Amino acid sequence: MAVRGGGSADLLVIFGITGDLARKMTFRALYRLERRRLLKCPILGVASDEISLEALVNRAREAIRASGEVFDERVFARLAKRLSYLHGDVTDEALYLSLAEQIGSDRCCLYYLEMPPALFAPIVENLGKAGLLERSRVAVEKPFGHDLASARELNSRLRAVLSEEQILRVDHFLGKQPVVELEYLRFANQALVELWDRQSISEIHITMAEDFGVDDRGTFYDAVGALRDVVQNHLLQVLALVAMEPPVGPSADDLNDKKAEVFRAMPAMDPARYVRGQYRGYTEVPGVAADSQTETFVALRTEIDNWRWVGVPIFLRAGKALPVKVTEVRLFLHRTPALAFLPSPTRVAPNQLVLRIDPDPGMRLQLSARGSRSWQDVHLDSSFAEDLGEPVRPYERLLHAGLIGDHQLFAREDSIEETWRIVQPLLDRPGQVHPYEPGSWGPQAAQSLQRDHHGWREPWLPKSKRS
Ligand code: BG6
Repeated sequence: MAVRGGGSADLLVIFGITGDLARKMTFRALYRLERRRLLKCPILGVASDEISLEALVNRAREAIRASGEVFDERVFARLAKRLSYLHGDVTDEALYLSLAEQIGSDRCCLYYLEMPPALFAPIVENLGKAGLLERSRVAVEKPFGHDLASARELNSRLRAVLSEEQILRVDHFLGKQPVVELEYLRFANQALVELWDRQSISEIHITMAEDFGVDDRGTFYDAVGALRDVVQNHLLQVLALVAMEPPVGPSADDLNDKKAEVFRAMPAMDPARYVRGQYRGYTEVPGVAADSQTETFVALRTEIDNWRWVGVPIFLRAGKALPVKVTEVRLFLHRTPALAFLPSPTRVAPNQLVLRIDPDPGMRLQLSARGSRSWQDVHLDSSFAEDLGEPVRPYERLLHAGLIGDHQLFAREDSIEETWRIVQPLLDRPGQVHPYEPGSWGPQAAQSLQRDHHGWREPWLPKSKRS
């Protein structure tokens, strides 16, 4: 029996093709796939704007040029030939009748919903009513729910019309090269396999810092905040890949089972180990409430209560308007005993292993060497761009996976619900929000989480970003 929602799509339908995500990410990703000759099907854009196909093609061209891609007219011409456009109101059944007329019910479509989350379920229900889902898949962008109850409700509305195999929950961090690479690095290298547990590792830090504010996204962001925006999804998904056991087979479920086990072993987070900050000036951003208590910075401590990780503190921090844009995972190894063979026994700094996710992905092992006079850090660094070549971009990777029906890079229902369960106490009891200066590392209160630990470290920056 054929798997529902399996196999390559023969039509890509993008809801919201005139929106921001399409302009910033989707057209570029499609263009890159076209260049690599990985696009095989036509693309139908759907949106409420009454524009001509020619206008859509022009938007696509501008978006791709503005993205900094080397623009090849011949590649673009091939992509443009695939495009068609249907305008209509996604809450109106008439749109789905026209869709059905245009595409028929026998297609294996990938419907990509680049729409406000409140519309995910209504669109899917309408597609179902029009008989357009039988052999198709649906990809939905984040945020998937705004708490545990709403995520469950959304899952159950989608599951009423679709099987789990037909749903692709997009988290673009899962398409980032170093995040994908984690599984290979961890399990293909005995040198790392041996280090990767509580016997060797004493702490895990994950930092996602951005050096810009909320800018033009005030209305969206003020209802969301940093915890929902990037921790419940991006950072916990990364943590699962850092912490999981090796998958026992090649299927997406083999991988997702191991990630889900990590989440299941995580206790719900403790509000006493959670610090929220808001950068000064945030409430002046258009769309933000004048008395907003929304956080633009979070720092927290959590744990994974299983055989591999029990007792290893895990620190996450994420924020806007910080000094740099960098995302990294930092593992601290245990200290060695004092070095008794020196005239005065000395303790040296613990080794660290850093995976830089953005920018300029790479990996670093920090060792200690004696140097001529004092202890010095020695770094064994790999820049993935230099060592592995130009990476596939996240949306390019995710769209391709969606088109061929590969679920590895998408979040499964159970993981989404588990991650909301884990952060739910912080949503219920958020505590006060501490102001911080833009360009600083967040509020002072975030330091208190690190008392008796290694302290938040300056992230490892690419050479071009070091001052
Ligand atoms: C998005 C968040 O999911 O991820 C943004 O909504 C954030 O607030 C962005 O800036 C970061 O993504 P990237 O790929 O630039 O690290």
